[in-house]
Order: sequence, then C-alpha cells, then structure tokens
Amino acid sequence: MYTLSDYSAEKINDLIQTAMEFAQGKTVKAQQDIFVSNLFFEDSTRTKTSFLMAEEKLGLKVIPFDVSTSSVNKGESLYDTVKTLESIGVDLAVIRHSKERFYDELSGMDIRIVNGGDGTGNHPSQSLLDLMTIKQEFGRFAGLKVGIVGDVKHSRVANSNAEALRMLGARVYFSGPEEWFEEGTLVNGTYQSLDSLVKEVDVLMLLRIQHERHSNKMTLKKADYLNRFGLTKQRASTLQDHAIIMHPAPINRGVEIDSELVESPKSRIFKQMQNGVFARMAILKDELEQKGFTFK
Ligand code: CP
Repeated sequence: MYTLSDYSAEKINDLIQTAMEFAQGKTVKAQQDIFVSNLFFEDSTRTKTSFLMAEEKLGLKVIPFDVSTSSVNKGESLYDTVKTLESIGVDLAVIRHSKERFYDELSGMDIRIVNGGDGTGNHPSQSLLDLMTIKQEFGRFAGLKVGIVGDVKHSRVANSNAEALRMLGARVYFSGPEEWFEEGTLVNGTYQSLDSLVKEVDVLMLLRIQHERHSNKMTLKKADYLNRFGLTKQRASTLQDHAIIMHPAPINRGVEIDSELVESPKSRIFKQMQNGVFARMAILKDELEQKGFTFK
C-alpha cells in the first residue's frame, strides 16, 4: 500500500469494515510463518508501535530493524536495504521515510511495501484509521463537512485524508495560515476562514505544525498561533453539538489546540490511536493475502 488513492472507494470501505470487525473483537491468525519488518527512517510513536501491535495480533513474526544501528549509517541505499531484507526472507516491510514517493525506487520487488508515511506525500494508514473513526461516529461520509486546519502544505495526513474523503463523498474545507496554502494545496478542497468553518463542520481535523519540513523558521509565538489558527476553548464552544475533534498527533498542546480540549468529550484523538491498531491489522492482512498468505 503506497497511497489510499490507488484504491477504489469500494476497497477503502472494505478495509474500514475489516478494521471495524477487529475493533469489535474479531481475531485472526496467520496460517503460515510470515516475516515482517518495520523500517522507520523518521521518528514515530503511534505508527511504529501500532503496526507492531497489529503484527503481534495477526501472529506475524517481526524481524527487528533499527535504522540508527543499521548499515544505512555506512551509506547503504534504501533499495539495497530493502533488497537485503527481501533476500533474507522478509515478506513485508512497513517503511517511513522523509523522501516523498520513496516507494517508487522499490517497485518490482517481491517483498510487499506498506507506506508508513513518505515525506510530505501520504500517510495511508493514518488516513484509514481517521476514516474508520469518522465512520464509527456518523456511519457515512457522504455530505459530511470536514475541516482540515493548520499546516496543510507540509502535512502528508492532510493530503491522504482530503483525497480519500473527497473520493468517499465528504466535503473538504481547509483553514490555517494563508502562506501555507499555494496552488495545488487546495486541489481536494476549498479554503474557508477558521471562525466560520468551526461553526459548520461535522469533523474538525487539526494538524501538527511540521517544523521539520519548513524551509523558514516560523516566527509566530505559540500562543499567537493558538489564538489565530488553533482551536481555543472559545472557538470550540461554537462547534455543533454533534461535531467531533480529531488530530493525528503528536499534539503540540497549547498550539494547534488548547490543552484542556485534547481529552474533552468531543475529542476523538485517543480513539484515533486505538483505531490505528485495527486499521493497520486490516492493511497488513490485505497486503499479505494479496501475496497468497492466509489467515483464520
Ligand atoms: N500520527 C503519526 O503518524 O504519529 P507518529 O509520528 O507518532 O507515528
């Protein structure tokens, strides 16, 4: 799996359905020895640990791989690293890399690749768990108004979600500092000022400021960012009764969102993390079934 947009709406709905069954307690185990490895060239808490949890729950055999102590430090390329794992017998690799579309150079290999986030490109497993969280809440995507707010330009989560949500029939709106919007950023949605957007959304999706991907250091102070572009308690009080708050995390408390709202009744932020395990189980099972493996 490289991006969710490679899949049809029907296939995405099938993956969400499988993930929801896992969330409701369904269990399956691999019927053969299946070897997987997780290659994280960028830091991660949620994606890495929830893929690990998903792998354990599916009965997969995890071959540890730590980029920081590997021969990547001796200059080994991504291609040669992955080709080595394939030669050793690894069937599937979850890869997070700072290079957008890193997977292009790995095409044609027998090892299955699951994109754990590619630069500012895509984050399909995050998107699937976000879609699952929305489906659990509303039972549908058609007609929902989803606001994606913040560092849209540098966010792979925003890209994946905007594309997938539009494909599934939701209406996508963006907000945040205007300098982070440029031609192309708005291809899957429309810009709306934050105060009016917050009042109208069914789902408010906040984004982390991706400092590590900025070419110029942000000059705005944290409190100023919160007041101008974040979810303050005052703004949150204007949300519709049924609206929910989401954030892929890690969260900068007091920047994208007032700290007290992170665990407020409208927040689904920790539910998203819980769903991450089930969404990733669905992705791994699907990828491995495509390779001929079976689960029961
Ligand atoms: N949302 C997300 O990708 O979190 P991590 O960077 O901790 O994996």
